[in-house]
Amino acid sequence: MLDGDVFTFISKIENLTFKESLEFLAERANIKLPSLENLDSPQERLKKRLYELHKDATNFYHERLYKPLAKIAQNYVKQRRLDNKTLKAFKIGYSGERDELYKFLISRGYTNKEIEATELCFKTDSGNYIDKFRKRLMFPIMDVSGRAIAFGGRRLDENQKTAKYLNSNESPIFLKKNNLFALNLAKKSDSKTLILVEGYMDVISLHQRGVTNAVASLGTALTEEQGKLIRRYSDKVVFSYDSDEAGQNAIARGLDILEKLGIEGKVLQMEGAKDPDEYIIKYGSGRFNLLVDNSISIIEFKVKRLKQNYNLDIASEKIKFLKEVSKLIANIDSKIEREIYINKISDSNEISKEAIYAEINKLLYRNSGQNILEKSIPVKKVEEKKEVTINKAEIEREKMILYFLIKNYDEIGDKIISKVLVDDFKVEKYKKIYNKILEIVNNGNNNIYKEMTNIEDEEFQSILSEVLFSEYEINSVDKFVDDIINNYEKNKLNSRKQEILKEIKIENLSEEEKLKLENELNEIITKLAKIK
Ligand code: CTP
Ligand code: MN
Repeated sequence: MLDGDVFTFISKIENLTFKESLEFLAERANIKLPSLENLDSPQERLKKRLYELHKDATNFYHERLYKPLAKIAQNYVKQRRLDNKTLKAFKIGYSGERDELYKFLISRGYTNKEIEATELCFKTDSGNYIDKFRKRLMFPIMDVSGRAIAFGGRRLDENQKTAKYLNSNESPIFLKKNNLFALNLAKKSDSKTLILVEGYMDVISLHQRGVTNAVASLGTALTEEQGKLIRRYSDKVVFSYDSDEAGQNAIARGLDILEKLGIEGKVLQMEGAKDPDEYIIKYGSGRFNLLVDNSISIIEFKVKRLKQNYNLDIASEKIKFLKEVSKLIANIDSKIEREIYINKISDSNEISKEAIYAEINKLLYRNSGQNILEKSIPVKKVEEKKEVTINKAEIEREKMILYFLIKNYDEIGDKIISKVLVDDFKVEKYKKIYNKILEIVNNGNNNIYKEMTNIEDEEFQSILSEVLFSEYEINSVDKFVDDIINNYEKNKLNSRKQEILKEIKIENLSEEEKLKLENELNEIITKLAKIK
């Protein structure tokens, strides 16, 4: 199984070069690779040195935390309630004064060039080197396979004017957008859910109290690369960011990124503490886990934010709110889910369900001249949980396709026929008509209308007249066709996406198969993004 694809796969998920992947696999299989040393390019040799350097620096800082001269740091971690097991698990450390790290690194044989590449020490005007992190509590940042690649350092004295946190600059081994703090640990947790928090201390505090699936984006918004990394290990992310505006904006952006990647995003609602660290210390892990369980969905989060912009006591604002909310709901693919939200929103905002349905129906055929579907979707009660396979909107859509296909074949025929399959039709009688149309076209005939009306079959004619009597009027046939095609395309892509997301998590899938699925998934996501 050790063929090229495995390397591509490993290098992709672990962010390694080909050479590194080979070593990664060799190490896993307990194989020695002595002769490969010479194959390193200078860039790869440097990276390897930088990994070693970070490992040494991590140990240096960590050991220093336990020395008598680190009393301040020891008191600080006590005050932050970090226990010894946690200090060890996260390799938390304490940075020295002036140039202690620099001297240590030189004594370990690292060159100035290598040290400068990490930016852990820098050259002053006088030509001496000085450490970047001094007298700070040190948090090593590990990559997903557990190698130290950067540091965050917290100041110990709140009265000091320096920045609360200092972080490593990017380096050949550290690209911020590619990493999540503590993912190397969280990926081992049994949970398929990740809890995404903002800070180092939040993650560490949660892990110490048993919430071992927490990771941090370290004060920046979630990136697509991080999303892809997350998708390797989980299918759901619960955001627990600050409740301030910046935090909420970051959540909104993060949710969009996750949605595109097929990862479910939820938002934890917290009161009584400013961040997860404070909360779990104050209320314990049991209550924190309850908050996780009660976290709200992306739609609820969006509705909640939307609501803040309107005064619902004023009728005109309520209407605007209704329109915006309907846009959100119209985008939900599952009908049952749509109904659940419509009920929730109706109940909590004193808006009738019918009004919301009407708005949504208008949106579904925004391009049509009249709101043909306005009355066609019944207000269904959620109690009837039975999945209805064909809804009225679909029936209407199929009818419209036939209507325009028969009347405007020259204009739109090719486009529709190339995209809509016979099996896409759910209403049996309409499927029959579509089949007939295809048959006529295949025989090289394109006066569909004439051919159809010539068929001497009573049942057929009665369906046909039902379709043709509908008399749809729309402003733009072209736009209608695009909508129709997008709709079918979207449904197909979405159901394949769901399939892949399930398949990709199957345990005994080969690496090749996984890579294949992932490529297909990325293609689908790109296509879906274009449709929306
Ligand atoms: N951060 C940073 N630089 C700063 C402030 C914050 O890099 N000057 C990042 C850090 O990764 C920090 C995260 O943003 O962990 C969240 O910041 P904040 O909420 O201010 O800090 P906390 O994580 O709550 O840290 P603490 O509890 O130690 O105050
Ligand atoms: Mn905090």
